[in-house]
Amino acid sequence: MEKIIVDGGTPLFGKVEISGMKNAAVAIIFATVLSNDVCVLDNLPDISDVAGCFSILESIGAKVTHIAKDTVEIDTRCIHSTEAQSDLVRKMRASYYLAGALIGRFGRAKVGLPGGCDFGVRPIDLHIKAFEKLGATVDADHGCIDATVNPEHGLCGKNIYFDCCSVGATINAILAAVLAKGTTVLENPAREPHVVDIANFLNACGADVRGAGTNIIRINGVERLHGCEYSIIPDMIEAGTFMVAAAATKGDLYIDNVIPKHLETITAKLIDMGVNVEEYDEAVRVSYDGVLEPVYIKTLPYPGFPTDMHPQMSVLLCMADGESAMTETIWSNRFRYVDELRKMGAKIEVERQTAVFEGNTVFKPAVVKSCDLRAGAAMVVAALAAKGKTTIEDIQYIERGYVNIVEKIRAVGGNIQKINFPDV
Ligand code: EPU
Repeated sequence: MEKIIVDGGTPLFGKVEISGMKNAAVAIIFATVLSNDVCVLDNLPDISDVAGCFSILESIGAKVTHIAKDTVEIDTRCIHSTEAQSDLVRKMRASYYLAGALIGRFGRAKVGLPGGCDFGVRPIDLHIKAFEKLGATVDADHGCIDATVNPEHGLCGKNIYFDCCSVGATINAILAAVLAKGTTVLENPAREPHVVDIANFLNACGADVRGAGTNIIRINGVERLHGCEYSIIPDMIEAGTFMVAAAATKGDLYIDNVIPKHLETITAKLIDMGVNVEEYDEAVRVSYDGVLEPVYIKTLPYPGFPTDMHPQMSVLLCMADGESAMTETIWSNRFRYVDELRKMGAKIEVERQTAVFEGNTVFKPAVVKSCDLRAGAAMVVAALAAKGKTTIEDIQYIERGYVNIVEKIRAVGGNIQKINFPDV
């Protein structure tokens, strides 16, 4: 069993390079299925979720070749199956994109229901609604998304209105619509940067997707796609996590390979707290050495404050000079980090969907768990702030989404190591 040990209390100083975005990469890897050709993807993050996507693609016949560090060639001409129901499919959230891509290319998909971090109920009704609107018949009652399209009619473009902003449903609707006949219009789609990235990738393959990043996305169906070379955008959540770590340790980090615009809401809240944030073309510098002001934060779909930064930012709210609060509007079960931070001395009360932080916490070392990916990242940040040795367990969650987190932190002065403990 692997654990992370952090001997905290040392400010982080120096330069850190941000990797490609997990949530864009996992969608684009499955989108290559639609190209029926060879795609070369660059700036791919070397994380377990990406490795999982490759294994799933290989299991249906695609060829995945690593041609350089962070660069992979995917040949989807040789796909021989539209069924994927392994344990891996069921463990990963992003495997639902395989359903959208297979329906779009073959008019057939049988893909195990997706797993992912446990934030309470994670429905896929909007994905199914989109597939059905486009003309698929979908059964999701028997442990998998089982979709068929009548070959005589094929998929046809339609207007699809989403009741709530869903990243996954928006991307899946785009995947199913790019090769459909006619025009599909998505109203109230998610506007996250990774939705724009997937549209850019598909357009580079010959698709006609317009308006990604706005309130209306229009997809004019095309007959076929072709391969392309594409570089994944930087991971705004990895960048945000390092921004918070710089502030929590009273350090000074130059965070490189980012798109500062994607970080605007995180930057705005850090500035409200008194943290210094300087923006450059492709970098931000975050430094801090004073008293943190308390703030109120509410998570919202992009361009609001990202739910995937909630646990990490909460570490800073604990340290502020007075009472702060965080309201979660996306995932009901985001608060599993609270009990772990309490073990480190935080005073947090959760009332419905709002956590109230008493403030002025001086974190102390403890043995804590990484309950999910972002909760695990929050433990790392709190441990870096706490003087003394903290042990973080269940780090497999952290490794789903952060590239070489231990090495990157060590390179900027953090005393952190990964240790293999024998199971007892
Ligand atoms: N929702 C529905 N019905 C659906 C789909 C979603 O009601 O069919 C609701 C959800 O219950 C939730 C809201 O819509 O309240 C937003 O869910 P969304 O579909 O946007 O989430 P997702 O696509 O499953 C992605 C990221 C998550 C991130 C959310 C929100 C991937 C693989 N996952 O999940 O990332 O929290 O968007 O931004 O892209 C992470 O990286 O740590 C992570 C959990």
